[in-house]
Amino acid sequence: MNRLVSPSILSADFGNLHKEIDMLNNSCADWIHLDIMDGVFVPNISFGLPVVKSISRLAAKPLDVHLMIVDPEKYADRFCKAGASILTVQYEACVHLHGMIQQIKSLGMKAGVSLNPHTPVSSVENIINDIDILLIMSVNPGFGGQMFIPKSLDKIRQAKELTVQAGSSALIEVDGGIYLENAGEIYSAGADVLVSGNAVFSAPNPKSYIEKLKHI
Ligand code: DX5
Ligand code: ZN
Repeated sequence: MNRLVSPSILSADFGNLHKEIDMLNNSCADWIHLDIMDGVFVPNISFGLPVVKSISRLAAKPLDVHLMIVDPEKYADRFCKAGASILTVQYEACVHLHGMIQQIKSLGMKAGVSLNPHTPVSSVENIINDIDILLIMSVNPGFGGQMFIPKSLDKIRQAKELTVQAGSSALIEVDGGIYLENAGEIYSAGADVLVSGNAVFSAPNPKSYIEKLKHI
């Protein structure tokens, strides 16, 4: 069973990014989660390619880039060049999802697909053997610091069942509203990777918080 942690720098101090990335480099975080928001797919704008590029120069861990943007197929190569190791797109933003996954993989990145809270797990039945990561959004995308939607636990169980039944090696990643208080049940439901932003960066000791999340 995997227990990976991918802290989301959306909640980091952007005035001290170097320090924040150093902290993550020295922590037991497995990946660094970067939330890209375009103000169209989600009602918020975060940061873009130049920031990803700067982080990739500092980061000693794989960049787990989560695109909450429309037309992701136009940007995959640029995120690859900027240093993304994993590129996750929103199911709802892709008309040609299979082609999008192929594009990401042909660039040498791991391919992830993310499901909004209203999107059923069955939507990815036909591509579950093509992806490396299935991301279950446990909040509505757009903002850090929201409450975990309890129904997400059922979706994580369904996602796990789907991967087992299909013989898929996709990891199940869960994103939004994750704290030490609910991390245990999220892993138990079948999650392999936990994304955590607000909980990690508002903790008095983020490094030890990450360690606790991983070893809960
Ligand atoms: C929400 C983002 C999340 C967010 C998680 O749109 O995709 O990655 O940063 O943050 P917390 O842990 O604060 O809910
Ligand atoms: Zn995210």
